[in-house]
Amino acid sequence: MTTVPACAVVLAAGVGSRMKSDQPKVLHPVAGRSLLAWSLAAARAAAPDAVAVVIGPDAPAVAAEAHPADVFVQNQRRGTGDAVAAARPAITGRTGDVFVLFGDTPFVRPETLDALRAARRDGAAIAVLGFRPADPARYGRLIRGVDGALDRIVEAADASAEELAADLCNSGVMCLDAEKLPGWLDRLTADNAQGEYYLTDVVALARADGLACAAVEGDPAEMLGVNDRAQLAEAEAAAQAQLRAAAMAEGATLIAPETVFFCWDTRLGRDVVIHPHVVFGPAVTVGDRVQIKSFSHLEGAVLADDVVIGPFARLRPGANLERRARVGNFVEIKKARLGEGAKVNHLAYVGDADIGAAANVGAGVITCNYDGFRKHETVVGDGAFIGSNCALVAPVTVGDGAIIGAGSVVTRDVAEHALAVARGRQTELPGWAERFRDQANEKG
Ligand code: UD1
Ligand code: CA
Repeated sequence: MTTVPACAVVLAAGVGSRMKSDQPKVLHPVAGRSLLAWSLAAARAAAPDAVAVVIGPDAPAVAAEAHPADVFVQNQRRGTGDAVAAARPAITGRTGDVFVLFGDTPFVRPETLDALRAARRDGAAIAVLGFRPADPARYGRLIRGVDGALDRIVEAADASAEELAADLCNSGVMCLDAEKLPGWLDRLTADNAQGEYYLTDVVALARADGLACAAVEGDPAEMLGVNDRAQLAEAEAAAQAQLRAAAMAEGATLIAPETVFFCWDTRLGRDVVIHPHVVFGPAVTVGDRVQIKSFSHLEGAVLADDVVIGPFARLRPGANLERRARVGNFVEIKKARLGEGAKVNHLAYVGDADIGAAANVGAGVITCNYDGFRKHETVVGDGAFIGSNCALVAPVTVGDGAIIGAGSVVTRDVAEHALAVARGRQTELPGWAERFRDQANEKG
């Protein structure tokens, strides 16, 4: 089965007007990646080295998102058949299977595409993925013959009352004979209610050629298409439900799963505990036994085993927390390493920094990493102690084991094991306050 060559064509030339957006529909994200990226992942699973994407004219951002797939432009939106024809150079001369997927239908699973492939191996020239939606209203209907084999697809706009009663609907996903598809595309006409070149008409053409076609029924949850913002939210909810279930299945505790938001690529170790209301952006990797307390927000961060963060921790891209490091409330970490067992527990900003193992960064410490033009690095050695409310003006290095007095503005490097205090010295005038008050009262 694996020796049959395959290519995949992802249709993404639609304007998506119901999104009411300045951004192309397929670029809207679900669980942190675009609808198109979801579809491309499915396409790549079916046809690892031959994926083509059909986009509309003037859509450079869509072309960029499609990279490294081959991109074809459909200049006028004349229907799904015309869209596949736009990718003709990717199909012509091929043998084996052509998969057609929609860029706005993100959740089709590789196993489902395998079922279409299997139907092709059983002799179908075209295998179509069908489903039974709760409301079939506007979907194309799969019309089957007495033997149950697929006979034709009728769009809702062209269907008779009897045809509309068919409850198996067209998902749009198909697997077709690569050698025959170019000929069928040549024979499509736009002689229908919408004046479009329907890809769905290839089934009747194949039947007219005496070839068998098959309908494969799939799970409606996989066919969820996104046409408007409400469906985008539905897709997000579906993706989150899956990601939460997967996280728990892999051994993470989610105290209130419905309040935790994952990204498609979030990776969690075993015995991770995630408290209520935590949000993961892209590219977060979490080690074993990590605790993430409530209201934390993470993106582009790596947390090694036994790290504890939050509540109210913000980890931005490049945050790299080594084993047993701790980040507490109202702390922002960006592009910074916290060495093993290092602590930044309260109200701090640590950016462009390297904090050594077991270092303690006190409450209110700020790495002043930006001079208005460039970013500079702060280095804090192993076991160093930065007192509360210090400003570390980068570039600056605090040596291993050094102590910085609270409230210091550190502008020069501090040697290992030294004490540095950089603030006004405290003076005390005995009895001064009492004399001041007495004088003030006499005048009054
Ligand atoms: C299509 C199917 C219908 C099926 C439904 C499932 C046809 C004729 N109809 O209908 O049977 O039930 O999907 O959602 O295929 N596209 C282009 N260029 C075009 C037209 C469409 O790239 O000229 C792309 C769109 O971006 C989208 C996909 O093709 O990703 C489907 O287009 P859409 O207009 O949503 O098809 P439907 O009319 O919903
Ligand atoms: Ca649609």
